[in-house]
Amino acid sequence: MKQKIETSRLKSLLGFLKPYRGKLTVGLVAAAIAGAIPGGVAAAVKEFADRSGSGNISGIYVVAGAIVGLYTVLVLLRYMQGTVLAEVSLRVGNDLRRTLYSHLLRMPLTYFDTQRTGNLMSTMTTDVAKLQNAANWVKDSIALPITAVTMSVILVRTSPKLVLITVAVVPLMALAIQQITRRLRALSQTAQGKQAELNALMDETLSSPRVIKAFAAEERELNRFAKVADGAIHAQMRGIRRSALLGPSVDWIGSVAMAVILVIGAQEIALHTSDMQRVTKEAAAAGLLGPARDTWVAARVRGLSIGGFLQFVFAANELSRAIGGMGALRGALLDMFGAVDRIHEEVLDVHPEIADDPDAIELGDVKGALTLEDVTYGYTLETPVLCGVTLDIQPGETVAFVGATGSGKSTLVDLIPRFIDPWTGCVKLDGMDLRKIKQGSLRAVMAIVPQKTVLFAGTIFENIAYGKPGATPDDVELAARAAGAHGFVMSKPDGYATLVGERGAMLSGGQAQRIAIARALVCKPHVLILDEATSALDSGTEAAVQDAIRAGSHDRTTLVVAHRLSTIVDADRIVVMQAGSIVEIGTHDVLVASGGVYARLVESQLRGEGGES
Ligand SMILES: Nc1ncnc2c1ncn2[C@@H]1O[C@H](COP(=O)(O)OP(=O)(O)OP(=O)(O)O)[C@@H](O)[C@H]1O
Ligand SMILES: [Mg+2]
Repeated sequence: MKQKIETSRLKSLLGFLKPYRGKLTVGLVAAAIAGAIPGGVAAAVKEFADRSGSGNISGIYVVAGAIVGLYTVLVLLRYMQGTVLAEVSLRVGNDLRRTLYSHLLRMPLTYFDTQRTGNLMSTMTTDVAKLQNAANWVKDSIALPITAVTMSVILVRTSPKLVLITVAVVPLMALAIQQITRRLRALSQTAQGKQAELNALMDETLSSPRVIKAFAAEERELNRFAKVADGAIHAQMRGIRRSALLGPSVDWIGSVAMAVILVIGAQEIALHTSDMQRVTKEAAAAGLLGPARDTWVAARVRGLSIGGFLQFVFAANELSRAIGGMGALRGALLDMFGAVDRIHEEVLDVHPEIADDPDAIELGDVKGALTLEDVTYGYTLETPVLCGVTLDIQPGETVAFVGATGSGKSTLVDLIPRFIDPWTGCVKLDGMDLRKIKQGSLRAVMAIVPQKTVLFAGTIFENIAYGKPGATPDDVELAARAAGAHGFVMSKPDGYATLVGERGAMLSGGQAQRIAIARALVCKPHVLILDEATSALDSGTEAAVQDAIRAGSHDRTTLVVAHRLSTIVDADRIVVMQAGSIVEIGTHDVLVASGGVYARLVESQLRGEGGES
């Protein structure tokens, strides 16, 4: 099992504490002083008992006052350290979440294809919550050792003999702590993994209720949920049982030690009392007086005074509490390191594959010429999805892509906004390699209507305006008209303020598509990509939307992926794809006349759809 933590990761964790050095220092100094205060209390306890034992209680109020004073300081310090460190904790957690979130937002699309959102959510919440406590643990790892050292010094000075017994107990305690915490990290990791699985499952189920109902899979889903949930509880309980064992076992070992100490302590006190009587008599016989007598007596008396014993018990108790605390601290730290590991493995160490080139430039004037030069690409190493694709698209041209499902059309158009980078070859905009252009500026001149329409919960207005921050109602209406959406929007009682529901669920498929088109048009893109953007519309509506899109298309380059011929016949050129390669390019008439793949496609559609197109 991995017990050690890579120092680089620890450093990255401490890096998050860095901005709060000032506050952290205040909190830690307070914690350090608070850690040493029990030492003062122990001394006061000794004074208290010895003075009352000797019958001279004149200074007793001073000692009592000192105890109250020490505890007052302790309480104030604890309050201060508590609030300051809590603030640092909250801010560190917030910073960490921001960093993770911004990292996630920059991740390439392919990352989200392989990661389950539930896992990511769990990392963002549970793991961050664990790290958030870092400030508290740093505090404990300073205060507890200070208490332990102070108490050890007091113990040794009070009674080396009793210390030997205590020392004999320490390895026992350490062994118990080690045995118990040994597997905690692995257990915590398993429990965390199960919890993430549960989150992922809920995320999936709750976001696709339609599928579940359609297949009457409620019972099945519930069983799946119950199984994973049971697994999560089981894993958590194993961790809890183990860590719950820690405090009690340390306490139990401590109590056995205490019993031994009481017995030996009683013998020591008895020895001290009899020695005291004898030596005092001898001092009187020798005619000693005052401080000289006290020193003489102190040097000859063996054993422990009652006060000394009480001080020892107090210090031993504090020491065992500190050691127990350090054991718990170790468990918590291991847990935290598990969280650091996951945060790194799942998010921070995954570098966006598509990063901006250091000398990438901002786009200036864009004409809209697109070039693909011998492009190869695939999602997995074994299977290329695009093989040697070469294509030149003129500014202002409308190019349609057709081909069997899975032939690579969506993949090809994903290259244009640089959602993916080609394995070999290159993609150029106005003759400039896309890798030399800042991604933000590249995407600002393009708009995409993806094959799978995604709307955000919100109003129709918000969804359309998403394409252009700061869009005015006029911009939005213009785009909606061009997308053939204005009519149905106005027929809704709330018009543009109509809520679309979670992922646009309250709109029809065709309505959602038209909103997505409007969202793409609102920013007046130089390059417009429509991937099956009108597939859900009836032929009449589709023709109207096509006309509207075409009307504004002379000053922008348009790429249209479509299965329906009606959508593509008017394109300047048609690109026919087959198994990742371009097999034909030309106008509708030329391709039909040539009698190739496209001609057969047209024929089969005309036959199959009874002449719909
Ligand atoms: N994210 C992905 N991860 C792995 N493989 C993928 C991914 N997306 C697509 N593929 C695979 O790449 C191939 C081409 O897919 P693509 O989506 O480009 O086809 P398409 O021509 O757009 O098909 P359709 O007409 O059905 O939309 C398919 O075999 C598909 O299974
Ligand atoms: Mg596709």
